[in-house]
Amino acid sequence: MCGIFGYIGERDVVEVLVAGLKRLQYRGYDSCGIAVLDGNELAIVKEAGRIERLEQTLSRYTFQAKVGIAHTRWATHGTPTPVNAHPHIDCQGTVSIVHNGVIDNFLPLREALLKRGHILRSETDTEVIAHLIEEELACAAEEDKAIAFLHAVRRAVQQLKGSYAIACLWEEAPGVIVAARHGSPLLLGVGNNEACVGSDLNAVLPLTKQVVLLNDGELALVTQTQVRLFDLEGNELPVKVHLMEWEIAEEDRAGFPTFMLKEIYEQPDRLRKILSLRCQGEAPPVFEELTMPPSQLIAFRRIIVQAAGTSWHAGLYGKYLFERYLRVPTDAEIASEFRYREPVLEQDTLVIAISQSGETADTLAGIRQARSRFVPVLSLCNVPGSTMTRESNAVIYLHAGPEIGVASTKAYTAQLAHLFLLTLHIGRLKWLLSQETINALLDEFRQLPDKMQRVLDEQESLVRECARTFLNARYFLYLARGINYPTALEGALKLKEVSYIHASGYPAGEFKHGPIALVDKDTPVVCIAPLDSVYEKMLANIQEVKARGSRLIVVTTEGNRDFDDTAEFIFTISPTHEDLTPLLTVLPLQLLAHHVAAMKGLDVDKPRNLAKSVTVE
Ligand code: M6R
Repeated sequence: MCGIFGYIGERDVVEVLVAGLKRLQYRGYDSCGIAVLDGNELAIVKEAGRIERLEQTLSRYTFQAKVGIAHTRWATHGTPTPVNAHPHIDCQGTVSIVHNGVIDNFLPLREALLKRGHILRSETDTEVIAHLIEEELACAAEEDKAIAFLHAVRRAVQQLKGSYAIACLWEEAPGVIVAARHGSPLLLGVGNNEACVGSDLNAVLPLTKQVVLLNDGELALVTQTQVRLFDLEGNELPVKVHLMEWEIAEEDRAGFPTFMLKEIYEQPDRLRKILSLRCQGEAPPVFEELTMPPSQLIAFRRIIVQAAGTSWHAGLYGKYLFERYLRVPTDAEIASEFRYREPVLEQDTLVIAISQSGETADTLAGIRQARSRFVPVLSLCNVPGSTMTRESNAVIYLHAGPEIGVASTKAYTAQLAHLFLLTLHIGRLKWLLSQETINALLDEFRQLPDKMQRVLDEQESLVRECARTFLNARYFLYLARGINYPTALEGALKLKEVSYIHASGYPAGEFKHGPIALVDKDTPVVCIAPLDSVYEKMLANIQEVKARGSRLIVVTTEGNRDFDDTAEFIFTISPTHEDLTPLLTVLPLQLLAHHVAAMKGLDVDKPRNLAKSVTVE
């Protein structure tokens, strides 16, 4: 999705803007551009394609600028061309704007502007905002240019329906950036004699850890030395500066060919970190940031987990745990369905939202829906300060660290780990789990980082061979039962999104009710079959599939020889508690997806059509 960055200060503005764009590029983009105030004149440079191309073009110019805005665009309205790239300008070319989000009423606004004589150059919804600001500036009464600009932007955004995060420049107020937010994330960084605006912490943190989190319906007037906030009625608001202690996303891949592979290999260390934070000695897991009181946590009679994509798969894993250990009926809902389904939401229900980014539009809408019915929301989120962390009643941070690859890997295992630990925490509070049981489960959990490392180290070359073997497969099937059913879904999603090979995940028991018709002698079928309580059933399902002549790839427990004669590839995991196997079985599947895509020469970290965080519907 699109990214915004703006800077005002003494550094080399173009250099800072380009560096900011580079830190946003992981979100996915297809064109980019910057606008700077060169003295009092607006200069704009835009390109279709990569930031490197923009950099090349920029190298032909020298600007004397102290302020600028920049954007990575992911096309929604109009193709990715330099004309459609942001920043956009008004008729006179004195106002410039970058925008994330979607303006739902842009067509009537555009038609009205055309009728009033405006000339619009692009196909975008964003450009109309620049022209609305121009009209509002024409009738501004304020003497102070910066204040006049702020209120012109304020009156312009009042006409918009939809979502926006914007940053704007005006030639006549050269010392300010005006920013506004409704429905798309935006943050301000307050440095020493410098300030910045960004749609993402990754862009802001290298400049400063002092961050102001803009809320929906707020505008900011940003100068080199000061940030002022206003509401849509023009009332000034108090400014709260947060100290954001988050790791800055590394820009290099630490020797790995892709961020996705680097992040797959980071998982054992991430789990070690989670263990050190959450599990001290013999005590049950601790969640220091969890503000929901124990009396409330044990009182819920129903749980609804709602999330999207990989995070929804983690939610399904949570359902198995909550029902097994806590005996609380749990639904795992796809957020985009949940928000429009008129779900039954009663006050004894806890809604759990799971998200890496904390900005996914559908999951956020689900949170708002729950809260509007006075149903409490607990979010499991990776990015501190993200919208979900601010709009939920309580938060648990995932501590996966910044995830750059579009395909979620380490955030997924961090989600599973936290759902497991949360189950133990609530199970203890409810006196459903004895200290002995908790100790036994935690002993197993503590061994996971080393077991993850073993899977990665020992299975990697076999996974590579498997990837080479099935490089040209038309589609893959993924089967599992029980607690690994979400693993089948996740393995299939990983393969689809990075390799563009169709893949479906099924609960193995459901397979003969239709999908088995897909299987022929060329079909690779990935069966996740650790030695667990549903293993015998899984074995029977695998035999049915094999009988149709399919090509078997099996993930199972070390020492199991049942597939020696039938499977073409066998990936093994160390024995562990059944409910922890998903943290191991998913690893060869992540590697398989990565290697297939890499061998096909695809852009693994930025798959086509995908964005890291989906902030629009
Ligand atoms: O940031 P979120 O966890 O809310 O994102 C949800 C999905 O968009 C995300 O998991 C998506 O499916 C990933 N590309 C999966 O790898």
